[in-house]
Amino acid sequence: MNLVELNCDGFRSLSGLCFKPAPGVNIIRGHNAQGKTSLLEALLFAATSKSHRTSQETDLVQHGAREFHVAARVQRSDREVAIEVNWWQGVKRVRVNGLALSRVSDLLGKINVVFFSQEDVGLVRGSAAQRRRFLDMELSQLMPGYLHALQQYRQVVRQRNELLRGGRRPDPDLLGAWDEQLGTHGSVLMEERRRFVESLAGPAQEAYGQVAQGERLQVAYRPDLRDGVPFTEVLAASRDSDIRQGMTTRGPHRDDLEFLVDGEPARHFASQGQQRTAVLALKLAELELVRDRAGEYPILMLDDVLSELDTKRSRRLFSVVRCGAQCLMTTTDLGSQDALFGAECVYFLIRNGQLVRQ
Ligand SMILES: Nc1ncnc2c1ncn2[C@@H]1O[C@H](COP(=O)(O)OP(=O)(O)O)[C@@H](O)[C@H]1O
Ligand SMILES: [Mg+2]
Repeated sequence: MNLVELNCDGFRSLSGLCFKPAPGVNIIRGHNAQGKTSLLEALLFAATSKSHRTSQETDLVQHGAREFHVAARVQRSDREVAIEVNWWQGVKRVRVNGLALSRVSDLLGKINVVFFSQEDVGLVRGSAAQRRRFLDMELSQLMPGYLHALQQYRQVVRQRNELLRGGRRPDPDLLGAWDEQLGTHGSVLMEERRRFVESLAGPAQEAYGQVAQGERLQVAYRPDLRDGVPFTEVLAASRDSDIRQGMTTRGPHRDDLEFLVDGEPARHFASQGQQRTAVLALKLAELELVRDRAGEYPILMLDDVLSELDTKRSRRLFSVVRCGAQCLMTTTDLGSQDALFGAECVYFLIRNGQLVRQ
């Protein structure tokens, strides 16, 4: 699928911005703080109603303004999808092809994007919570039903924890009822996560090998429940300790994802460059996975990806992104890398939030 047009008004530093990328590789050049990341963030927001930089939507509205508008027109293989997000004083309204969405979660999957940003290196280096957020975000876009199971699961964990913290010894029947529900929704999460990571692992290894020749990446799902014991039995066995600690100590809300480079945990042993390449490989693998599931490539956004890759890795990355997906790539380099990018790329320059095609 290809982004045909993106309009942003009052979104961060961008006003009256109209971006019309070409199919294939688009390079958005600009010095620091000119609006490159904001432009990609706006498309991410139209696709998912989320930002990768903040969970506070008030950060997105231009300082001093009360509203912002983002509109994206995307050509899919069989239809056109137009998404409009209008945000006014904390109230968000989303329209798809002119029709108002009653639930924002219905937006997911209308257009598919894969986004690589500076912050993503935290996927390897950061907390397990960050890796679960990645799994949840991607699966919510890809698998119908996942988001529902996740929301139900979280709600039951909250209610079960309240019961555990209630002071008196909790009613075992009530706890049993919550355990049943955790079992139902939790097994959906675990099964989908396992399948997702399994199908991502091979392509991630391949992409990593293409960019960093001679090194090997492994990605593995590390569920909290590993030994095949049914979830409800694990909950029953940990009930006493759950009551003592006042929280649900076992389950997919404790899952993790592991990255190994040449057999060693990348979190502790890999260099910054290797960690970034590992995350990049994961995103490139996702590109293939989304294509398999959605029947066409998603839009690939690479924010400042070249800043920490050496020329050799950058060149190899370029041969990988020429797979046919539309790619929107930002860089602070204003010309010296032209030989690297090649003549088939389309260039844009952004200055003070104003974008021109070069
Ligand atoms: N809500 C906002 N309103 C106005 N300006 C903002 C807002 N949020 C961020 N900015 C400013 O927008 C500019 C562009 O940021 P960014 O898109 O991150 O630039 P780049 O990626 O090109 O370095 C920065 O100067 C930043 O301070
Ligand atoms: Mg930036």
